[in-house]
Amino acid sequence: MMRYISCMCAVLGLFIFCHIANAGGGAGSNWTSSQANVSDDSAPSSETVLPVPYPSGFRTWQHVKSMVIHHKKHPLYDAFAGIHHIYADKKATKALLENKRFPRGAQIVFDLFSIRDKDGAMTESSRKFTAVMVKDDKKYASTGGWGWQAWVGGDRRSPALKSRSEQQACATCHEEVQSKGLVFSQWRD
Ligand code: HEC
Repeated sequence: MMRYISCMCAVLGLFIFCHIANAGGGAGSNWTSSQANVSDDSAPSSETVLPVPYPSGFRTWQHVKSMVIHHKKHPLYDAFAGIHHIYADKKATKALLENKRFPRGAQIVFDLFSIRDKDGAMTESSRKFTAVMVKDDKKYASTGGWGWQAWVGGDRRSPALKSRSEQQACATCHEEVQSKGLVFSQWRD
């Protein structure tokens, strides 16, 4: 689990933090070397980030679920602390509702905010990042049939993932739910 968490930290550009948190090497150092490949001037390689479009208009999509991670006893606290909401576009919603395979083009968003805990209420504070997964078995064959990207602060000019291995790290953790098409969130009536 620690390996996944450190991957996610790297993904979100928190390299320094992760190197401290993972003192002694491990995944942190691998991430540094994959970054080095990207800054190389060489032709596109298997490391080249796969383009994934920003999910314009996702706030009007179907809300699937929300979750608050508020304490460091949760294994994903370092990567995902805050409140997140999950949204599915029409194609993904249909697949979730009918418990079927996700068709090409289906998109799901994970939108994470910091928490403001005040006067007995927890509310959303600033947006930490907006992440997306887009289904395309051909285009994204090397990353589990989904394209992965995250935008820091939800800013469409700031994609966080710079290499394919970072995108693969998303897929690797999601493989835990291989039988569900790599999607954790399920529909609840
Ligand atoms: C450490 C494991 C882990 C990593 C790494 C990870 N995720 Fe997830 N992701 C999860 C879990 C667990 C959920 C379900 C959250 C919930 O139940 O609310 C999730 C949910 C999502 C969802 C909503 C659909 C779903 O599967 O429920 C999207 C979209 C998503 N992640 C994108 C990404 C992207 C993009 C990356 C890489 C930047 C990434 N994830 C990396 C564990 C991970």
